[in-house]
Amino acid sequence: MKYMGSKRRVANDILNVMFNIVETDENTIFYDVFCGGGNLIQEVPLKNRVAIDLNEYVIEALRVIKLNPYILPKDRQDFINMVKQYAKDKHIEFKTGKEAYNYMKEHLKEYPKWFIGYIGTTCAFGAKFLSTWARGTERNGKKRDYVRQAYNSAIVQHKRIQCVDFICKEYDKYDYIKENSIVYCDPPYSEASKYPRMTGFKSSDFYNWIRHMSKQGYNIFFSEFSAPEDFVEIWSKELLITTHKTRYSVKVDKLFTTEEVLSRNNVDKKDIIQNRFKQNGIFAL
Ligand SMILES: C[S@@+](CC[C@H](N)C(=O)[O-])C[C@H]1O[C@@H](n2cnc3c(N)ncnc32)[C@H](O)[C@@H]1O
Repeated sequence: MKYMGSKRRVANDILNVMFNIVETDENTIFYDVFCGGGNLIQEVPLKNRVAIDLNEYVIEALRVIKLNPYILPKDRQDFINMVKQYAKDKHIEFKTGKEAYNYMKEHLKEYPKWFIGYIGTTCAFGAKFLSTWARGTERNGKKRDYVRQAYNSAIVQHKRIQCVDFICKEYDKYDYIKENSIVYCDPPYSEASKYPRMTGFKSSDFYNWIRHMSKQGYNIFFSEFSAPEDFVEIWSKELLITTHKTRYSVKVDKLFTTEEVLSRNNVDKKDIIQNRFKQNGIFAL
């Protein structure tokens, strides 16, 4: 699902790195903590997969994509019709997708959570939850139909997430199974734009939790642009980030873990940086 801060572009790179460090088998459980639009978990080649996020609207949308994507609106007109069907005011009319979207935003109680989560990200500007209605044009000058695009992606994602359990929880309130697992975290980045309704996130608490989990014996990894010095950077890649419709900036996305995780898996830190992942063509420095 289109999502602000999506890991779609780097999912396979990051997974290769983690799977090179931790030996997996058919019983390994992969946890995608802060799963957002499910863009990383859908690429994980394991049957035991758990995806966790605090945004209940988004988790509900992912459950619908998994179980019955055929109820999702198929294009802009279908979306307008659905907004009308759910609306309490039975005489309401909308001329455009934007009008229907704005009505939905102002009357959230009238709409199912999955509908809000799904449209509120895939059809929002920058895929930022409940931001303004996304507008764009195709090469032929026609208005881009974001609802249709989202539907086509949902049908693809549906097949890829059949084994995933979607859980709505705070990252540190879930009972993770330690043995034979990988815990990957993609938290709100400290420098990045904030996730609406998720204002309480504190990076310092998150780092302490990572340290705690690592000491407990979990194979834990996280993405960020930077991290405190006790963490080990094991992968990085330059990414073009859209800051405005026509403005971009280059940021280096990084993957971190702890020294404990590396030594528990008999991986030499130097080996990672100089040989192993460079040879695989994964390391982008
Ligand atoms: C960078 S995004 C994840 C993007 C995702 N990896 C993807 O590829 O689509 C960060 C996510 O963290 C979630 N989040 C914020 N605070 C949280 C918390 N305390 N516990 C769990 N999830 C949280 C937000 O709802 C958001 O979906």
